[in-house]
Amino acid sequence: MEKVVNLCKRRGFVYPGSEIYGGLGSSLDYGPLGVELKRNVKEAWWREIVTGRDDVVGLDAAVIMHPRVWEASGHLAGFTDPLVDCKGCKQRFRADQVAGARCPECGGELTEARQFNLMFKTFVGPVEDTAHVAYLRPETAQSMFVNFRNVLETSRLKLPFGIGQIGRSFRNEITPGNFLFRTREFEQMELEFFVRPGEDEQWYDYWRHARFEWYVRLGIARDRLRLRPHAGDELAHYAKGCVDVEYAFPFGWSELEGIANRTDFDLKRHSEYSGKDLTYFDEERRERYFPYVIEPAAGADRSTLAFLVDAYDEDEVEGEARIVLRLHPRLAPYKAAVFPLLRKDGQPERARRIYDTLRRHFPVDYDQAGSIGRRYRRQDEVGTPFGITVDHDTMKDGTVTLRDRDAMTQVRLPEDRLVEELGARIERP
Ligand code: GAP
Repeated sequence: MEKVVNLCKRRGFVYPGSEIYGGLGSSLDYGPLGVELKRNVKEAWWREIVTGRDDVVGLDAAVIMHPRVWEASGHLAGFTDPLVDCKGCKQRFRADQVAGARCPECGGELTEARQFNLMFKTFVGPVEDTAHVAYLRPETAQSMFVNFRNVLETSRLKLPFGIGQIGRSFRNEITPGNFLFRTREFEQMELEFFVRPGEDEQWYDYWRHARFEWYVRLGIARDRLRLRPHAGDELAHYAKGCVDVEYAFPFGWSELEGIANRTDFDLKRHSEYSGKDLTYFDEERRERYFPYVIEPAAGADRSTLAFLVDAYDEDEVEGEARIVLRLHPRLAPYKAAVFPLLRKDGQPERARRIYDTLRRHFPVDYDQAGSIGRRYRRQDEVGTPFGITVDHDTMKDGTVTLRDRDAMTQVRLPEDRLVEELGARIERP
C-alpha cells in the first residue's frame, strides 16, 4: 500500500488534500494522471452500464435534495454509526471498532455509545434554522427513485429497465482511511434496475455475475476478487439480499461494490411520503404495481484504488529494476508516449508531428529528456501501454517502433498506421 501511495504522490495521481495547510483528514485530490485514470474508470462503467445497453438511461441529479427524501429513504433515522468519546483525550471512535471499554489511544474511559448520523448537514439560503436544514446526499441512489416517474414519462422504456448515475456522495465517516478506500466525499457509480416482482431473483443473479466480470475484463486478477453474500444481520433495512464484490487489498478483503435486491421499498416509501403515484402499469399483464429494484452500487474511487493496487508490479529489465503499472490500456492515463531516439537529425520534429497527430485521437505523452531506457521506465511507472520511437530509419522510410509495456516486444510499422493499430490494441478484450 505504501508503495502505491508513494507512487501516486510522486507521479501526480493523488495528492493529500489542502496539503499546504497541513492536509485535511482523508481528503484527497486527484492530480493530472489520477484525474485521467478515474475518468477512464467512470467512462468504462458508463459505457458498460448506460450507453452500451438499450435498457438503461443516465441521470445527473442535484447533490442537495429535498430533506423529505432522507426521511422517506430512512437515512435520517437510520444512517448512523455508533460513536464513543474518550473522556480523557476527547478522541472519537466507532464503537464497533474499539475492543473493550478503554480508549485505544490513551487508555482513558469511554462514554456510552450513541448514534451519530453520517449525513453532512447544511442550510439552504441565508437563514440558519431548522426549517432550512438540508443534507449533502449520502448516496446517488435516491435521486433515481425520485425521478422514476420523470424518466418513465419522458422515455419509452418498459420493464425491465435501469437508471444509471455517476456522482459525488458525502458521508461524515467517523473513521475514514486506507487512502482512497474510505473518504468523506467520494464518487459513486450506481445503477437502479427496475424489474417485475417475481423476476427480481433472476436479475439479481444476472447483475452480480455481470459486475464481477466487469472488474476482471478491465484487468483485475480473478483470484483477487470474490463475491461475498451478506449475512442476515448485515443486510440494510431495505434489502432482501445483498452481495459485495470484494478485492484482496493489502489491508484485507474489502468491498468494491454492493449488489442489492432493494425490493419495492424505495418506490413505495417515496410514493407514501410525496403523495405521488410511483407505480408502473404493465400493459402486457394489465396490472399496476411497484417494480422491484436490483442495485449494483460501486465506488469510483475504490475501484480506481483497486485498479492501481492490482496493476502495481516490480520487475527487472536488462538488469535494472523497474516499477510498472500494468493498467488495462483503456484505463491508462496516457495510451502511448512518443520519443525521438536522438535529439538531432530532425527526429524531435518528426516525433512531435506524430505526437500532434495521435493527440487528436488519444491522450498521449511526449518525452525527449534522458536516455531511451529512462524514458521507457518513466512511462512504465505510470502505466503507459505503448511507446513509439522515432529513429534513424523513420527518417528514411517513415516507420517507427512500437513497444509493448507488458510483452516488452517491439514491432516496426509505418507511422500512418499508428492510429488504427493503437485503437485496436487499446480496445483489446
Ligand atoms: N445505494 C447503496 C449504497 O450507497 P453502499 O455500499 O453504502 O451502498 C456503495 O455504497 C459503494 O460506494 C461502496 O461499495 C463503495 O464503493 C462506495 N463508498 C461508500 N462509502 C464510501 C466512502 N466513505 N469512501 C469511498 N467510497 C465509498
